[in-house]
Amino acid sequence: MKATACVQREAGGREVRLEDLTSFRTGGRPRHYARPRTCEGLRAALRLCSKRGLPVHTMGGGTNLLVDDGELPFAVVHVCAPGLCWIRRTGPCSVRVGAGVRMSRLLSYCARAGLGGMEFMAGIPGTVGGALAGNAGAWGGSIGDPLARLWLVDLRGRLDERPAEGVRFSYRNCSLGEGIIAEAEFMLQPCAPRQVAERMKEYATWKARSHPLSRPSAGCIFKNPPGSEPAGRLLDLCGLKGTRVGGAQVSALHANFICNMAQASSVDVMSLIQVMQSAVRTRFGVELEMEIKHWPSQPVAA
Ligand code: EPU
Repeated sequence: MKATACVQREAGGREVRLEDLTSFRTGGRPRHYARPRTCEGLRAALRLCSKRGLPVHTMGGGTNLLVDDGELPFAVVHVCAPGLCWIRRTGPCSVRVGAGVRMSRLLSYCARAGLGGMEFMAGIPGTVGGALAGNAGAWGGSIGDPLARLWLVDLRGRLDERPAEGVRFSYRNCSLGEGIIAEAEFMLQPCAPRQVAERMKEYATWKARSHPLSRPSAGCIFKNPPGSEPAGRLLDLCGLKGTRVGGAQVSALHANFICNMAQASSVDVMSLIQVMQSAVRTRFGVELEMEIKHWPSQPVAA
């Protein structure tokens, strides 16, 4: 079968290009693109990819990704259809959600329902599934903290329930093995709705002031290195703010952000990432590790 023969086309007959689905605005055409409508559809999509021997990447909000341009040798399963975006109260303080729910929508629900414990996530874009997969967080809190359990679909399409204690979360990392998060349940605390909303507003306001949110980006590029100054500070001290490769530029506001200023290619972004790593290595002897996920078009040499 030719590579393009199994690309699922959008309703208008248009090929799916990941640059239209990622906040960084990079990314080419995957071999196969599926947007399952339900959890059963998700299982079917994974069974199909497994049968075809296609590697699978999962996309939530596409907000923490650098995807290469051109033909991509993998399938993308996009968890965002309405059937995977529900929110259900399961107890006085517990909420169960489909993995495709936007973080912002879940936070609005919590504020209205008077449920506290997740306010620190305010201003973090993307979906609940994506946030869990990368253990996203801010202000010392991470999405793994209030998690009670999750449901994972493995690559053969089997549904597996995992209590939070069975998931290994660490700084910006979640070890689940292979599979896709389909649902999650959070345990929160009762709190006055106005207080919850005010705390969220404070966090979101701080983020809007210190992060370059008006340009396409993928959030912080690097993890904060252990036992050292934060990545943003090291990069700033190297004088990298404003450094540009093609259409990609280190933000003038926060040195751990790269902004797509003018149709940057994935190669522009990757070259700039290497410039940043090299500057910090030379000046401070610190190896910066990427926080964003990279989906390469070529297998990466071990
Ligand atoms: N700093 C500079 N120059 C810069 C950027 C930062 O000197 O250009 C300094 C700041 O002044 C501050 C320190 O570095 O003293 C840390 O910066 P900041 O408070 O912005 O926090 P961060 O460590 O850069 C982390 C998360 C953010 C999250 C914030 C708030 C990582 C890699 N980043 O940023 O998350 O919003 O804390 O809690 O852990 C993301 O994950 O995409 C992200 C942006």
